[in-house]
Amino acid sequence: MRDLRISVMDRCNFRCLYCMPKDAYHDGYRFLETPQRLSFQEIVRLSRLFAGLGVRKLRLTGGEPLLRTNLGDLIGDLSSINGIEDIALTTNGVLLHQHAADLYANGLRRVTVSLDAIDQEVFERMSGGFAALDEVLEGIEAAIAAGLAPVKINTVVIRGVNDHTVLDLVERFRGRPVIVRFVEFMDVGNRNAWRPEMVVPSRELVARVNARWPIRPLSENYRGEVARRWAFADGAGEIGFISSVSQPFCSGCNRARLSSEGRLYTCLFATEGLDLRAALRAGVNDAELLRIIRAAWNGRTDRYSELRGRLVRAEPEQRKIEMYYIGG
Ligand code: GTP
Ligand code: 5AD
Ligand code: SF4
Repeated sequence: MRDLRISVMDRCNFRCLYCMPKDAYHDGYRFLETPQRLSFQEIVRLSRLFAGLGVRKLRLTGGEPLLRTNLGDLIGDLSSINGIEDIALTTNGVLLHQHAADLYANGLRRVTVSLDAIDQEVFERMSGGFAALDEVLEGIEAAIAAGLAPVKINTVVIRGVNDHTVLDLVERFRGRPVIVRFVEFMDVGNRNAWRPEMVVPSRELVARVNARWPIRPLSENYRGEVARRWAFADGAGEIGFISSVSQPFCSGCNRARLSSEGRLYTCLFATEGLDLRAALRAGVNDAELLRIIRAAWNGRTDRYSELRGRLVRAEPEQRKIEMYYIGG
């Protein structure tokens, strides 16, 4: 276990069609109430325990993490934990221009912005039409200016929806302190109407990018890195591809996930989580918490992406956790 992904907020101010499609997450949808979410104190206590078990990197996710009030305070506390070497945030970017400087001042050093197109119309179709593209672009610039460079961008590619605009995105950010990563559309949860033919395999995108701007593969930054890295031959920086459908990477998976209500999941495609909030609020001591976390991790047999073909056919109705709840 090296990497803990912490979802701090289940709500989101976007309705991306691959994550929170509008028809499923309408005005009447019931998200968690504030007391159901872990407090900052509870998150910090658990993070300290996870650091003791080997976690070196924390990634804050949502829903949209910047909807959580005073997120900078949490980052400040997390950055003082012994053993934590890296704190990152994955956000839709729309509130980033307001918060970038404060987040940096509290110890955040890396940010990943989800951005699926730089064509206004395609952007709106992918994100549900709740925000202006310009605000996200402003957020990316604010993050660079605040010292959070290089900024990573995650672009989920869906065939027939945004695959025709990928080269425009590359062109926009080439040569800037920005790393665009194309993500294969995944069958996370049960509500995003995923079908295999909607996935654009990375090898297809690599070929398209390479035909326009030659690229060469780079070695990984750290063991178990999710993205395959490539460099532009002309020195204009790097791009990445996250290919969990066409080339699953379960064998190197060292990521644990904590939902905003304190359930621990050992896989993005899990159906059950361990209720750490109940243990925390029942007054369980650190030694006992460590024991149950260790037991959950040691008992892990997750390799959903490697088994996807078989599982999708065998158990089509299996209730997986949703992306908004677990944060990727
Ligand atoms: P870096 O620290 O910058 O390497 O971040 P990251 O790539 O681990 O995190 P990010 O939140 O940017 O995730 C990128 C994409 O990979 C998202 O779509 C995630 O849902 C997906 N992803 C991350 N971890 C896993 C995993 O263990 N399994 C699968 N199938 N997808 C993952
Ligand atoms: N498939 C692939 N990536 C997804 N993300 C959200 N839902 C999906 C999906 N179904 C991405 C978001 C965000 C990251 C945490 O996960 O774009 O950048
Ligand atoms: Fe890890 Fe599960 Fe993703 Fe495989 S599918 S890489 S086990 S989170």
